Amino acid sequence: MSGTIVITGAARGQGAAHAELLASAGYRVVITDVLDAVGAETAERLRATGGDVVYRHLDVSDESEWERLADELAAGEPPLRGLVNNAGILRHGPIADTTVDAWELQQRVNVRGTFLGIRALAPLMEADGGSIVNVSSSAGLVGSTGYAAYSASKAAVIGLTRAAAAELAPAVRVNVICPGGVSTSMNDDEPVGGSSSSAPLARRASPAEISPLVAYLLADASSFVTGSVVPIDGGLTAV
Ligand SMILES: NC(=O)c1ccc[n+]([C@@H]2O[C@H](COP(=O)([O-])OP(=O)(O)OC[C@H]3O[C@@H](n4cnc5c(N)ncnc54)[C@H](O)[C@@H]3O)[C@@H](O)[C@H]2O)c1
Repeated sequence: MSGTIVITGAARGQGAAHAELLASAGYRVVITDVLDAVGAETAERLRATGGDVVYRHLDVSDESEWERLADELAAGEPPLRGLVNNAGILRHGPIADTTVDAWELQQRVNVRGTFLGIRALAPLMEADGGSIVNVSSSAGLVGSTGYAAYSASKAAVIGLTRAAAAELAPAVRVNVICPGGVSTSMNDDEPVGGSSSSAPLARRASPAEISPLVAYLLADASSFVTGSVVPIDGGLTAV
């Protein structure tokens, strides 16, 4: 595979796993995050195994930081081929205890960050084609106690994906994945298994189990797939 892929929130967790798979498939990967030391270490680790991987600081909620990255990519090689809007935050708690600040922080990172990414980088893919993979959650498809602000943000990412797929076709495909529980720092404080224990597969995924779906949606193999909402959740939302 050739071309550059940008992954947000990729210093650790699922984003880092996606970076590893995509680098091994031959893409140039730009890891971005706000955790600069961790992101730089991840990029260094992947370069040590032969990957063409760099780290750049990018707060996804910051318009000017997206503009700066777009300028750098427009002047660089190889051309941008894909964007994975993976950065996200979760602050769970009952509605009654959810402050406006906590509500707005989740919308700011999860929704505004995804919007800004599409707006900044889709134009760079319009000439030669490209693919955007947004990251929602099973929480964007079904509700559960303590997840109101997060669920609202992840449902918004689904609506944003569908509208962007309509507007950016045919040059740029836009899809959204909805992982169920994945073992990362995000759910460190959840009880073991979390809501995943009631799913048919009754366990959380490892980050590496999500990456092949991301790779598929970025590649030409998925050339007829756009506007799709793809659960990857061990059956959680099927039952
Ligand atoms: N872990 C799960 O169970 C699960 C399930 C479904 C969906 N998701 C989603 O998957 C994505 C990846 O999460 P993860 O599980 O790897 O958790 P994670 O916490 O390990 O990774 C999230 C990354 O986003 C980064 N980030 C946070 N705010 C940011 C900002 N403003 N700008 C840039 N980066 C920022 C964090 O520093 C972190 O590296 C998120 O969108 C999350 O909502 C996670």
